[in-house]
Order: sequence, then structure tokens, then C-alpha cells
Amino acid sequence: MCGIIGYLGKGNAIDIVLRGLKRLEYRGYDSAGVAFFNGGDFEIRRCKGKIRDLEALIQVSLNSNLAVGHTRWATHGVPADHNAHPHCSDSVVLVHNGIIENYLVLKEELTSLGYQFTSETDTEVIVHLIEHFHRDMPLEEAVREATGRLHGAFALVVVSRKTPDMMVGVRKDSPLVMGISEDGYFLASDVPAFLEWTRRVVFLEDSEMAVVTPDGYRIVTFDGREVHRSPTTVDWTASMADKGGYRHYMLKEIHEQPSSIANTLRGRIDLSRMAVNPGEFMLPDGLLTSINRVFIVACGTSWHAGLVGKYMIESLCRIPVEVDLASEFRYRRSLISRGDLFVVITQSGETADTLAAQREAKRQGAFTLSICNVIGSSSAREADAVFYLHSGPEIGVASTKAFTSQLVALYLFSLLMAEARGQIDSSLRRQMLQDVMGIPEKVEGVLKRESEIEEMARRYSNSKDFLYLGRGILYPVALEGALKLKEISYIHAEGYPAGEMKHGPIALIDEQMPTVFLVQAGELRRKVFSNIEEVTARGGRVIVFKSEDVRDPIPSAEHIFEVPRTNEFLEPVLMAVPLQLLAYYIGVRKGYDVDQPRNLAKSVTVE
Ligand code: G6P
Repeated sequence: MCGIIGYLGKGNAIDIVLRGLKRLEYRGYDSAGVAFFNGGDFEIRRCKGKIRDLEALIQVSLNSNLAVGHTRWATHGVPADHNAHPHCSDSVVLVHNGIIENYLVLKEELTSLGYQFTSETDTEVIVHLIEHFHRDMPLEEAVREATGRLHGAFALVVVSRKTPDMMVGVRKDSPLVMGISEDGYFLASDVPAFLEWTRRVVFLEDSEMAVVTPDGYRIVTFDGREVHRSPTTVDWTASMADKGGYRHYMLKEIHEQPSSIANTLRGRIDLSRMAVNPGEFMLPDGLLTSINRVFIVACGTSWHAGLVGKYMIESLCRIPVEVDLASEFRYRRSLISRGDLFVVITQSGETADTLAAQREAKRQGAFTLSICNVIGSSSAREADAVFYLHSGPEIGVASTKAFTSQLVALYLFSLLMAEARGQIDSSLRRQMLQDVMGIPEKVEGVLKRESEIEEMARRYSNSKDFLYLGRGILYPVALEGALKLKEISYIHAEGYPAGEMKHGPIALIDEQMPTVFLVQAGELRRKVFSNIEEVTARGGRVIVFKSEDVRDPIPSAEHIFEVPRTNEFLEPVLMAVPLQLLAYYIGVRKGYDVDQPRNLAKSVTVE
């Protein structure tokens, strides 16, 4: 998955595209490139490395009205200059995000027609294929003909030496949005790429093309039908996508959580009734009472949120919940039916496996609800109902603020369903809503103690392995804590249910290995204390994150970090924050680029 951008207009196209690429760098960052029209021809600069490496090759002061750019996350062909985009043929230049599944067949066919390949990418077949058709037809038609031959996922921005005042955008199973400013038009993988210039956006649908010239734009389907769609205005601002004085996006996003959670809550609670506003989940009347089962499907951090959601929904609503990884669900002969509610959790709304699972569930007749952060994303548009997180753009590759907003969204959803199904009395509902409204302040309180976590990071940053253990609703939080650490610091970390410790992980414990325990009040805490004893008895090092409600002495712990009291369903939110900080500070101490960890990408739009 990669980031692509094109600009046509009166502004400085090179500068605009480079700045846009920096906003898209979270999508991939092993190579980058731009092509710009210099008044006579397209010039291409591309290289292995980051956007800053690319900048060194370009004179931004050059004047250009049309440029396209790309930031790459390699799928076919190693990160190398010759595999970096843009790719070009005689007259066609393009950038691509996605994967062409039939590229080998097409490569063979095009090679036999005399086209020469200079990269190992799948993308190069697209450029030659369009070139082939463009010999006898205008760019728009050539692009249409070529896309008809492509299997797979592709978002493209295509330009031609024959018509250097036009760009054609194509969207098929990979995101592409158009931005419209006073001065020009943008085509990009994501809105933050052009937020600095405009908030007016047209979301392209799958199998649509945007044909942009200085006089305006047209949207046409792959089969040539004109589509009329008015621009919408997104409520994100450019500064929301900035680092805002923080050293990294990740740190900024961790610190934004009091406000991002407040934004997720805003307008969702009917204060006069102290109940969740039913309209906020856009569910049809009667659905919550008629369903027999809830499926939750997601990837990565969003999957961890789904696991927490299972504890919330089953406890509060007394309805079975199945949680699955999207990559497993989509290829399993799953038993899903009309009586099921299918909840998809996805920050980006573009994760390929999650989208495929959502489509499969829809095909099988389930009602689909997307819990999503990115407005107008594929998941949001295709779902029967959407609950937007409103947590603002998340740029750091490792998800932080979207996770806590997902937990809050699932909490609200559980309360709504519990009320609809008569499983909760009004006084408990009121209390639980009061509790969630108090969460932003409590998160603020946790963040104020950041220095304690920094100190912890100093002490443990040389460890080679970490174990994270929790029980019940804190088990998925242990998974998330371990995931954050391995993503950011490249330290091997495993999350486990504490009750399973004796069935394997205990064998790993030695004097070097820290074990992070997550402890909440309730009877089960005693069992976790036994696990702590078992770890210390083997010389292991223990770090405890516990709720203020847990009053027992824990003498064997090297560190104890206490999070403020709340109800058991909201403890995952408060525990997640210090675990994010721990991963962040260890990653920073080790000198890694925490916003763009190696091999990872923010939005996994390919399988
Ligand atoms: C990638 C990201 C993770 C994210 C996961 C799912 O792996 O690096 O941070 O949790 O994708 O993404 P989604 O946008 O569907 O929530």
C-alpha cells in the first residue's frame, strides 16, 4: 500500500505534491517519487528512501501546473530507485496504489508486443497497457480500456505527454479522493494530503474515474456513465494533521486522547434521558432486539478493540458475540445469517481484509455496522450503518487514539443494546454514562504522570522480550500493549491471558524478562497475584498496571502504575494509555522512527 497524489492547477504543483506526500508518508515510506510537467515534457525524480531523500533531488522553485507523486510500501520488487513510482512509458506517466493480480499474464502479453520493462513492479504493466491503447485513443478512453483488463486493486493518477493539461484518477478497491480548491484540483489516497489547501472533497466510488482539466472535472464510471456528485466539506483542519509541537505524531495522538474521546462522545448521549442517542448508530428500529448474535471483525489494534467489545456486549446485553480477524473470517466458511449483526471496526475504513469480510457478510445477508474513523472511507460507504469515531486524523502508524475511541464506541453501543433488550436498569445506565463522560479527565490525569512511564522505559529498554498478561476484559489490552511495543521498538513481546501463563509462557521467564501485569479489582485479581508470585519465584521482573481500586500490597513488583478508578468496562481505556506511552518511550530510547516503524503501514489496503 502506498500513497498517491496528483495536482493540476495554478499553484506550485511540485511543492504541493511534495507537501501532500509528506502527509501520505504514513501509508508507505520505502521509496518516493514525483513527475511534473516542465512546460515541454514530464520530468521524473524518484528514489529509494523517504520524502526528504526525494526532496534533495528536486528544485521546488521550478514552475509546474501538473504533478503526480508517490510514496511506496513495496509489494512487488524490492525498495529501489528503479521500482519507485512514477512509472512511465512513451507518453504515459502514472502513480499506483494497490496490487495487480494478473500482472504476470499482462507482462508476457505486453513484452510480446515489444514493450520493455525496467522494474519488477506490477504497476509497470498498467503504464504500458494504457500506452498501448493511448496510441489510437484519447487518455480517458485508453485508461478505461486498460482498467478493463486489470484484476486486483488499484487507485491511479495518470497523466500524458500528449495532453499535459489533464489528469485522470481511477479508483478500484483502493482509496482515491478528489479535493477542490480555488486554485486547482487534487487527487489523493487520503484527505490529509490536501487539507492544507482545501476541505472540499468529492469521494470517488469503486469503478469510477475522475477526469480533471483546468476547466473542471467529470466523474465517469468504468462503463462510461456520467456521475453527478456534489463536493462535501470535511470538518478536519490542516493543523489536526500536524505534529502540533510534539516530537512525533504518535506522542501527539496519545496526548490528544482526552479530546478525541470527548469528540467520540459528543452528541452521542441524550443528557435529558441519560441514554445513548439511538440515532447515532443509524440502526433500523427493532434491529437490536431482533438479532440473535453479534459478529465483530477487524484487524490489528481494531481487532483488540473488538475483543474488548465482546466482554462488554456479552456482559451487558447477554447476547453471544463472536470476534474474528478479518483475514480469517473472509476465507472461512463462516456461519453468518440474516439474524446476525456484523460489526466491522476499522480506523481507516480501507483495510483490505476488513472490507472483504464486510462485503462477504453483506452478501450473506447480515446487517453491517461500521465503526470507523475516516469519513467517506470504503467501509463507511458500503456499510448499512456507520458510527464515526470523530477522533480526528491518525497519522502515526501505530494506532493509539483511534483504539481508545473504538473502546468508547463499543461501550456506547453495548449500553444502547442493553437498554433496547431490557438488560440494564436506568440507574445503572445513568451511572455508566456518567462514568464514560468522566473518562477524558481521567485520561488527562494518566497523561500528567508521563514521566513515571519514561522512567520505566529507561529501565527496561534493553530487554529483549516482554510478556504482557491480563485477565478478562484486560486480556485484549495485554495483547494491545504487546502489539504496541513490538510495532514501535522491535522488541519481541507477547500478550497472553494470565490464566494461560502456566501453559507455555512461564517457560520464557528468567532474570532478564519483564512481565507486565494488568490488574483490575474483583475476585480474579487474586489469581493474577498468584501469577505474579510465580514470575518472581523464577527471578522474573514484574511491572504492574492496576486500577486504583486494587488495594492489596504487591511487594514483588519493581514498578506499580495506578490508573484512576472507573467501572470495569472502561478500565481498558485507562490502561491502554500508559501502555502506549511505554511502547513510545522505549521506541524513542532505542532511536527508532516511531511514526513510521519498519515494514509497517498505516493502512493495509492489500492482502
Ligand atoms: C495496520 C495498522 C494498525 C491497524 C490495522 C487495522 O496494521 O498499522 O495500526 O490497527 O492496520 O487498521 P484499520 O484501519 O482497519 O483499523
